[in-house]
Amino acid sequence: MDSNSNLHFKMMAFGFKFRDFFSPRKNILKDVGIKPGYHLLDYGCGPGSYILPAADLVGKSGKIYALDIHPLAAQSVQKISSKNRLTNVKTITSDCKTGLPDSSVDVVLLYDTFHALSDPNCVLKELHRVLKPGGILSFSDHHMNEDEIVSKITGSGFFKLSKKGEKVYNFQKK
Ligand SMILES: C[S@@+](CC[C@H](N)C(=O)[O-])C[C@H]1O[C@@H](n2cnc3c(N)ncnc32)[C@H](O)[C@@H]1O
Repeated sequence: MDSNSNLHFKMMAFGFKFRDFFSPRKNILKDVGIKPGYHLLDYGCGPGSYILPAADLVGKSGKIYALDIHPLAAQSVQKISSKNRLTNVKTITSDCKTGLPDSSVDVVLLYDTFHALSDPNCVLKELHRVLKPGGILSFSDHHMNEDEIVSKITGSGFFKLSKKGEKVYNFQKK
């Protein structure tokens, strides 16, 4: 990644501090249905705004995979994990493939990332592969309207809409 992209990432992280202060991420996750012991993949985790609230929900017996294309994301998530003594968070730097086993994940968070994907079909196929049967793809993207969201995600043939929350859409693996 070049210095421009590092600057862009750092500016995004700075902006998220304000977003997360005024709209705490734990409120976004309350509708998702995350339970203790769950394995959760935060796809396009960015600086890691969802890591602490997700870690609270999955507890010590759960596991969090934080994936982003940008190496600064892994650095930021590792910093959060060590500061908060989280031992169940693993970072992955990738633009699509997760390296996780088939049917191993209960919930995927795909928040404000879909619009930025260069190969969305690759990502949806990969998320479908790693989710357990009936697993949840929790989705938001403020760059897209509801019709676009539902048609793009269900149109892939991999997911059906299971719940429309206040802030996020839950899709279930077909
Ligand atoms: C707007 S940020 C959202 C971060 C986080 N999900 C949130 O809502 O706080 C979008 C993130 O998607 C990442 N991203 C873009 N394309 C990606 C890809 N193909 N695979 C993984 N991450 C990607 C970017 O690096 C960026 O960190």
